[in-house]
This record gives sequence, C-alpha cells and structure tokens, in this order.
Amino acid sequence: MIRRVAVVGAGTMGAGIAQLCAQSGFSVKVHDPEPAALASLPAKLRKALDSAVLKGRLSTQQAERAFHCVSEVAEMRDLAGADIVIEAAPESLALKQELFRKLSEICPDALLATNTSSLSVAEIMRKARSPERTMGAHFFNPPVAMKLVEMIRTSATHPDAFRAAWDFFLTGLRRTPVDVKDVPGFIVNRVMRPYYVTAQRLVNSSTSCAAVDESCRSLGGAPMGPFELMDLIGLDTNLAITKAIYEALGRPERFAPPGLQQKLVDAGMFGRKSGRGFYLYADGKMTGENHEALKALPPGTASTAASIWSSLSGAIVSEAQSLVAEGAAGAPDVDAAVKLAMNFPKGPFEWRKESTAAKP
Ligand SMILES: NC(=O)c1ccc[n+]([C@@H]2O[C@H](COP(=O)([O-])OP(=O)(O)OC[C@H]3O[C@@H](n4cnc5c(N)ncnc54)[C@H](O)[C@@H]3O)[C@@H](O)[C@H]2O)c1
Repeated sequence: MIRRVAVVGAGTMGAGIAQLCAQSGFSVKVHDPEPAALASLPAKLRKALDSAVLKGRLSTQQAERAFHCVSEVAEMRDLAGADIVIEAAPESLALKQELFRKLSEICPDALLATNTSSLSVAEIMRKARSPERTMGAHFFNPPVAMKLVEMIRTSATHPDAFRAAWDFFLTGLRRTPVDVKDVPGFIVNRVMRPYYVTAQRLVNSSTSCAAVDESCRSLGGAPMGPFELMDLIGLDTNLAITKAIYEALGRPERFAPPGLQQKLVDAGMFGRKSGRGFYLYADGKMTGENHEALKALPPGTASTAASIWSSLSGAIVSEAQSLVAEGAAGAPDVDAAVKLAMNFPKGPFEWRKESTAAKP
C-alpha cells in the first residue's frame, strides 16, 4: 500500500509530480541538492495550485490541503520511509546511477522509479541494490494535466513491484499507465519520431512547413503540426531526443537527425522560446514562417495535403508496427499513448484499420 511518496529533483517535472501526488492526497517529500531549487518549490506549488483554483479544477480547501502535503528535504537520507520514490533529476546517466545506488540503500523497501525520457532504465538502475523494485515512470509535461504515464519494465523488474506501481498511478493518481519494455524512446518518443524527422524530409522550395502542419491538422485531426510542435517543445530539446534514439537504435537511416533542424539550432533558433524557429514569434504569438532560415530548402514540387499526411502517418504506423512486432508494447497501449501524449483523436493502429477498411 503506497502512502508516502518521495520525489527527487524539484525542477519542472519534480515539482509537477509532487503537485499531482499532493492533489491526490499523498504525503510527498521532495529532495533537491540545490538549495535554490528547494527554496523556490513552495512558491511554485502555491502558484500552480492557485491557478488550479482559478480554473475551477480544485476548491480552495483542496488546494490548501495539497500545499501542506508537500515538504522539502535538503538531505536525501530524510526520504527514508517512502513507499515509492520518483526521480526527476537531470538527464545524466552517471548522476541517475549514483542517485539510485544511494536511494536503494536509504529506502530499502520502496518502489524506485525514474522519469528518464531517453536513457536506458536498466542502465540507470545498474547500481541499485534491489533491481527487482526498479522501473521507469515516464510522465509528460505538465504531469497534472497529462494523463499518460509510460511504465517501463526492465528484465529485472518484479511483476509484483510493477503491479503495485501501476495500481498507484491508475487508482492513486488517476493517470493512464501503459506498459512498455526498456527500449529506446519507449512508446511515444519512438513511434512519433517520424512526425518530426520525416516531416523535415517533406519540405522543399514548393512544400512549406505551414503546408505540412495544415495537412496534419486537417487530415489527421492533430492539434498541432510537426513544425509548430517542434517550435513549442524547443528545437534543441527535440533534436537531442532524436539523436539519443538514433544512437541507441544503432543509427538507422530513417531516424538520421535532420540537417535543417541542426542548422536552426546552431543559429540559436530554438522555436518559441527564442522567438525564431521554423516560424517567427512576437509577444508569444506566431507571426509567420521563418523564411530566412528556410531559404536553403532543396528545390521540389508542391505536395498535396493527402500525400503529405499519407507519408507521415504511414511512417508512424510502420514504426508502431515494428515496436509491437519486437514485443516491446501492445497495439492498444501504443494507440492510447499516442492519443494521450499528442492529443490525437486516433492512434496509429486505428488509422491503419480505417485505411484498410476504406480500400475497395
Ligand atoms: N521537462 C520535460 O518536459 C520532461 C518530460 C518528461 C520527462 N522529463 C525528464 O525528467 C527529468 C527531469 O527533467 P526536468 O525538465 O524536470 O529538469 P529540470 O532541470 O527542470 O529539473 C531538474 C532538477 O534536478 C535537480 N538536481 C540536480 N542534481 C540533482 C541530484 N543529484 N539529485 C536530485 N536532484 C538534482 C536540479 O536542481 C533541478 O531542480 C529528466 O530526466 C528529463 O529527461 C522531462
């Protein structure tokens, strides 16, 4: 039975996971070795909870209760007694390995979960005392709003430990867990990679980023096309994930990091956060395409919306099929993960079913 939660790292994800656990009534201890990060947590939480009250998602009393469920601890040893530890420290293998070596000693009976986006969970847990209690719990940002949690089991994860954590996320935190093996990119980052990489191969002097984005919105029901989404995520962050998956999978050509994106990152064009990416922004609003950055696109003819969406969705379906064929995840979990993470109305296996049914 999970009652006491420990969160390691008080940054973007750690603060969000702590808020989610506290809103769900759990007592949460948050550890961060950076005094400034720890000191800023109460104000961050207060702001997030006040905003939830303003939006009518929490009552004032619920927000107050949640605020008092969280305590900050400067020493890692004060996490002793936790039933589950969720780690959201920086994405560094050496740092996470050392953390879990210590955490597995301090919390000998706790379930131990990492929120890594791109590292191997088994590698992260290599120095942990009891690997059977370890797993990945990949939340999406912001954890309070995003229902999906990719639960990653390594070959060492004991089914009872996995089940206990699953029940906690499902019932305790009211998330939607999906079950995936410890493969590069897990489900979403792997299956959706073509959305970013293939999209950049489709643009040319006559097929604009805006045309690709529009086809995804109109034909795929996507809330955002790949280029506007990369601008939102940050071209640098998105490219780092592409590179990590490309390397971890043995550099397959289909995932080769796009030269166009690298050029924009090298020029400091990171997307919304720097005011320039595939598009231009002023006062947080998109003002048009970044023609300056895109002028070197190769010559080509204009593609129709149907052919653009067919290329992109086809590449995503093919990646989803490979993942399932490898036994890394089940088709229903792939569909659920893609829909929840991307806010798509349908998942790749549902698209495939539809297109097969449409054929005479
Ligand atoms: N930001 C996202 O959208 C997102 C989404 C899913 C997963 N993730 C993953 O979550 C993890 C955290 O990402 P983030 O965006 O919250 O990073 P962040 O930089 O916002 O926060 C990291 C926090 O960890 C703290 N820290 C540094 N060294 C530490 C240590 N030794 N022990 C404990 N804490 C330490 C830092 O002080 C900082 O407060 C990463 O593994 C990342 O890949 C991030």
